[in-house]
Amino acid sequence: MSISNLHNALVEELRDILNGEKQITRALKQMAKNANSEELAAAFEEHLEQTEGQVERLEKAFEALDLKPRGKHCAGIEGLIEEGKKLLEEEAEPEVLDAMLIAAAQKVEHYEIAAYGTLCTWADMLGLEEVARLLKETLAEEKETDEKLTELASQINVEAQSAG
Ligand SMILES: [Fe+2]
Repeated sequence: MSISNLHNALVEELRDILNGEKQITRALKQMAKNANSEELAAAFEEHLEQTEGQVERLEKAFEALDLKPRGKHCAGIEGLIEEGKKLLEEEAEPEVLDAMLIAAAQKVEHYEIAAYGTLCTWADMLGLEEVARLLKETLAEEKETDEKLTELASQINVEAQSAG
């Protein structure tokens, strides 16, 4: 498929983020396992469930476009997840590690907010109402998650500051 118009660009971006969400699902399992704060682990697990729902929503968006839900390797998310994995190999104070896990998770959330923000705008412009509705639901969830992580960080950062 040549990317000759905005509709094709939207499909390309949908494929990118579908693959990204699937990578995130695997990463969140690891992050929940490695978080020291129970609250943070619970937040990662909750977002894992949400992410599974987001994959389903993307599949529905493909259906609405009469396309098979086929992902395309998302190098952006892969890079962010790789950085997160390297963190886990470091020796760190538990509270400091948690603060760093939140930083890594928020980088992913911001990537997603950018991707879904663009997709929502394009879907609106193209008059793809069902697709836009699905994507806006996910965009709202990503923003909520980002805010929740900021809230958790406000406490965990203080603990990290007095650690070690
Ligand atoms: Fe997501």
